[in-house]
Amino acid sequence: MQDQTADVVWRPGNVPVSTQFDDPYFSLENGLAETRHVFLQGNDLPGRFRDGFHIAELGFGTGLSFLTTLQAWQARNCAGTLSFTSFEAYPMARADMAKALSAFDSFGPLASALLTKWQAEGGQFEIMPGVILNVVVGDAQETLAAWTEKADAWYLDGFSPAKNPALWTESLMRDVAKHTVLGGTFATYTAAGFVRRSLAQAGFHVERVVGFGRKRHMTRGTLSA
Ligand SMILES: C[S@@+](CC[C@H](N)C(=O)[O-])C[C@H]1O[C@@H](n2cnc3c(N)ncnc32)[C@H](O)[C@@H]1O
Repeated sequence: MQDQTADVVWRPGNVPVSTQFDDPYFSLENGLAETRHVFLQGNDLPGRFRDGFHIAELGFGTGLSFLTTLQAWQARNCAGTLSFTSFEAYPMARADMAKALSAFDSFGPLASALLTKWQAEGGQFEIMPGVILNVVVGDAQETLAAWTEKADAWYLDGFSPAKNPALWTESLMRDVAKHTVLGGTFATYTAAGFVRRSLAQAGFHVERVVGFGRKRHMTRGTLSA
């Protein structure tokens, strides 16, 4: 799986669809609003932001979730450092990322800052002063187990469980819990029962809450054990 870049086709509105997984990278209707609803609100952000806050994500994709987070961090004039670590098996080529992000005018210079620094090989990038992006390239089933840090909040964004079950296994959800601070949170658009059960077994207090748009439910949780 190492050294593979994302292979995409395009839907109207510059929405990339993965040919490996036959699934869009973000909502065909309103990717930005869905990202804010699921990942920011789902993790009680931006209210919990503080110096040293650390977000981790399964699936960096186009960088939409990262830029949505960065925009919220800046809008609150947060001081100090924000770390964002994302585990990605098939990093996007810069040109594909640029095409996907061109659909989101509101990012303006934030998108340019990401695109200028982006390397599909992954690594650590200071996107702007105090904002550290770390992209760990490889299969998250292996790379997360080897990670030595813990996140305050997780974005579980690895395509739908039906299309990519490998990113929602019991053992990976256990690894997510192991790499979460006590009281830390996760959020995801899926409400699949087996995912909720795995996360609960891993130690999260799991809640099914209202999803975005036509999706009735999504899932969020807090690490309680
Ligand atoms: C829905 S997309 C993520 C969207 C992304 N958060 C964004 O803002 O555009 C799912 C991502 O998971 C990645 N992925 C799929 N299987 C993976 C695996 N086993 N390990 C790590 N990443 C994986 C895909 O390459 C893809 O980039």
